[in-house]
Amino acid sequence: MTIQWFPGHMAKARRQVVEKLKLIDIVYELVDARIPQSSRNPMIDDIIANKKRILILNKKDMADESITKEWIQYYKEQGIASIAIDSQTGSGLKQIVQLSKELLEKEREKMKAKGVKPRAIRALIVGIPNVGKSTLINRLAGRNIAKTGDRPGITKQQSWIKTGKELELLDTPGILWPKFEDEEVGLKLAATGAIKDEILNLQDVAAYAMRYLIKHYPDRLMDRYQIDNLSNENEIVDLFDHIGKKRGCLSAGGLIDYDKTAEVFIRDVRTLKLGKISFDRPNE
Ligand code: G4P
Repeated sequence: MTIQWFPGHMAKARRQVVEKLKLIDIVYELVDARIPQSSRNPMIDDIIANKKRILILNKKDMADESITKEWIQYYKEQGIASIAIDSQTGSGLKQIVQLSKELLEKEREKMKAKGVKPRAIRALIVGIPNVGKSTLINRLAGRNIAKTGDRPGITKQQSWIKTGKELELLDTPGILWPKFEDEEVGLKLAATGAIKDEILNLQDVAAYAMRYLIKHYPDRLMDRYQIDNLSNENEIVDLFDHIGKKRGCLSAGGLIDYDKTAEVFIRDVRTLKLGKISFDRPNE
């Protein structure tokens, strides 16, 4: 899904989230575990202000497990509670209610002291497009409620989804815009498939991903494409020549078709043919 984020749209999206915040106890800020920083909204802290929040690193099944652990630790040090989940299988979902209860314990104790029986926790899922908001809502609801690929700006009646006895979720997520003014963020969003391929030049995206893999996952590149030696002297173009030849990405005259080669390489990255890759690291 492509969304054109004009200033007007951003203001409206923000307003819609702020309106919904009045109804809830806690925000579930959803990000892509492969790019936890690059898939965050740049103004999120400002938007959610004092609301309690859990940062949920979704698609953990696609991210480098050791880096995800580093992120959880990193956010802990920043005072942000975070967990990693896989919304497609439901792995990690139980932690959401548990952690919400812990974070809201004081408020719930206060209510109890006043003699008010604590009601179910009310939550809102927010995040940029494609991080898996609808998938998570459907998982928590145990049925298909949110259409994947929900669009911002389409208003419909809000309703609460009950998930167990302890959690109620607004059925429409808050959709926010990414940090796309930063070129590297754009390349990371494209490499992971969070934004459509028509938005950025695929050869640029492939070259970015290739450089990143040379730096962080050289063995996987060498294995996948039978590269004998991968040194810093390798020119990116030589690597694409090699991959293009191996994968038969040739144009009519027998020359390497770089568009096709980039497509093949990016598809390999996105479909985990090169293993689980995290494109954001806390120490970079
Ligand atoms: P959104 O509401 O935030 O825009 O995201 P949405 O739920 O539509 O999910 C975007 C894509 O991410 C979907 O794939 C969805 O299946 C996938 N996804 C969501 N959560 C996870 C997860 O935890 N792990 C993995 N591996 N994928 C996840 P799609 O290709 O757009 O659609 P489809 O192939 O599922 O039909």
